[in-house]
Amino acid sequence: MEGSGRSVRAPAHVDAPSHYDVQRDRRRTFIERWRERRQEVIRPSDVDIATIAPGVLRGGYLGTDAGRPTRLVDCAVHRLDAGAVTAAHRHSWDAVLFVLSGTGWTEVDGHRYAWKPWDAVHLPSWAAHRHGTDDPRGAEFLSFSSEPVFETLGAAWMLAADEPSPTAGAWPRVVAGGFADARTSRLASAARAAGGGRIHTDYDEIPLRPNAKGTRSKFLVDPSIGSGTSGLTMVMTQYGPGLWQAKHRHPGEAVLYVVEGRGHSYFGEDVDGGTEYTWQAGDLLVVDHFLWHQHFNDDPERPARLLRVHLMETMLTTMQALLDPLPLLEEPPEEMAKAPDATVPDWPADRRPE
Ligand SMILES: [Fe+2]
Ligand SMILES: [Fe+2]
Repeated sequence: MEGSGRSVRAPAHVDAPSHYDVQRDRRRTFIERWRERRQEVIRPSDVDIATIAPGVLRGGYLGTDAGRPTRLVDCAVHRLDAGAVTAAHRHSWDAVLFVLSGTGWTEVDGHRYAWKPWDAVHLPSWAAHRHGTDDPRGAEFLSFSSEPVFETLGAAWMLAADEPSPTAGAWPRVVAGGFADARTSRLASAARAAGGGRIHTDYDEIPLRPNAKGTRSKFLVDPSIGSGTSGLTMVMTQYGPGLWQAKHRHPGEAVLYVVEGRGHSYFGEDVDGGTEYTWQAGDLLVVDHFLWHQHFNDDPERPARLLRVHLMETMLTTMQALLDPLPLLEEPPEEMAKAPDATVPDWPADRRPE
């Protein structure tokens, strides 16, 4: 007020955003952009397949380069022409492979594993690896990797196999030499366990077993069968003709590749009233956030198969610990009670392609 002799202008720092404003705006912008990118079903026609080396083609289903960024798991399809061999390389993240067609091999740290359709392979963090096929038909496989997690943490590195690693030798699997403290030896033994687990799973090695959600299923990659992954697990699920899986919800990201058959899936914020999507072989279903979901085999004559991959065993158990007592996996008894009886004996044979 004129004549009062006192300044009414606010000090400059009052106009500047506080740490609270900065954080709030950053979080809001992040989730708004994230929601815009969601895509529940990715079709083969959405995937751009490009030649990346002679006789080697790659196409992204999920991931930053595919225009569909994720936080935990990415997914790509790889095609090798007869006689093709990929460039040997290694990276800080790990990956699991699922063979769709043809026969071939993958070398992991110099050891060659032969594979055929529906086999699975784990590529541990930092393991040097390359793939090849002599099958006159060529070969095709899917990869699912933990690269998004490492990228989020600023720790995603990829090197040619013969490039020196950040420290000499197979970093960071051999780190114990010269150190005697508890942390160093603990990290070294954890890294040895991760790199020393199961690499290859022959599809016929493990039987399909009926489960409480109404399907038959088997692990192809999992700690229970000796895999030492970053938390990536892979399960083959068989849906009986005309049958379904109990409705449930859990956090993202779980991805399901349609190996064979046709059906539809429910996705909704509520148990009822959500969206239904039809699917067929070659499609990828993405459960990328906390939605109720349920999958149905719409073929009354033949089984359908969904291959499920997620990072539940590490990232989501971390979330579970951080958010306890919030329930992160919901399987209401009334929904479980509606599941088909998967113990009935007349399932179609569990026969993989040649
Ligand atoms: Fe790789
Ligand atoms: Fe699920």
